[in-house]
Amino acid sequence: MSTSNFAASERDAIAHEFTADQFTPVLDHLPPGQRWSTWDDIGISAGPEPWPEWLITADAAIDTDLGILKTGKEADVWLLERATEAESVIMAAKRYRSSDHRMFRRDSGYTEGRRTRRSRDRRAIAKGTRWGRQVEAGEWAAAEFGYLCHLWSAGLPVPYPVQLDGTEILMELITSANGGGAPRLAQTRPPRELLESYFRQLREAMCTMASLGLAPGDLSAFNVLTTEARVVIIDVPQAVDIVGNPQGLDFLARDCHNIATWFTARGLAVDAQALLGEVVGYAW
Ligand SMILES: Nc1ncnc2c1ncn2[C@@H]1O[C@H](COP(=O)(O)OP(=O)(O)O)[C@@H](O)[C@H]1O
Ligand SMILES: [Mg+2]
Repeated sequence: MSTSNFAASERDAIAHEFTADQFTPVLDHLPPGQRWSTWDDIGISAGPEPWPEWLITADAAIDTDLGILKTGKEADVWLLERATEAESVIMAAKRYRSSDHRMFRRDSGYTEGRRTRRSRDRRAIAKGTRWGRQVEAGEWAAAEFGYLCHLWSAGLPVPYPVQLDGTEILMELITSANGGGAPRLAQTRPPRELLESYFRQLREAMCTMASLGLAPGDLSAFNVLTTEARVVIIDVPQAVDIVGNPQGLDFLARDCHNIATWFTARGLAVDAQALLGEVVGYAW
């Protein structure tokens, strides 16, 4: 049937519908650096409940990239604002790099015992193809998100993990007193009392992690942020199973060594072996 058989009003109605549909995507278009909130998108994993009160779950929210906060070894961390007309929050968006500019390949020791489900992906990773690197970046992001959820739920001082979307983790932004990104422990020279408090907090966190069977795996003064009185452990994708991973104890010993060395250099004598002995005691 040709359109000429339609009454004019029917044709207009169809044209109107068509135009409205056609224009929806145009109306939805946002400038570069902005996107509709991905919170409700299919395939997104949301963080653990109870959700913190600052979390914005409205699907009418807009995400805006505010710029790079830090370029790390494995990932770039961006400041991302999620806002509705009524409220807004700035979060950290950690985006794992999947291309050749990754600065080092992770020690495969971390992943011992972990399995990549699809053999096609496993082969791609082994061959280092572009797809393989993409899969690998997604796996590190998923591993980090999973550990953050686990650790946050156990009450450990880690950023609240908001959501995981492929190679991007959105998490709570840890801020300093002036509202910027919090300094790494390595950049600070805390007075004695605070130094002791930071160490107590880290030792307690390591003991709690050990009681969950985990070692941070890459703990150092570079992966600890400090707010005024608190320390927050970040960058946990390489957490290892202390007992199940054959190198678990070695990773834990290195974590203890890094922490002991930093505190000792700042004037608080910490014995790495004693620390290891205490932490290990919680793993069994
Ligand atoms: N949640 C966060 N809040 C504030 N700053 C962060 C946060 N996550 C990461 N950063 C900053 O980004 C840097 C790199 O992040 P990190 O997770 O350590 O990645 P990488 O694996 O690349 O080292 C950190 O040293 C820290 O300065
Ligand atoms: Mg780091």
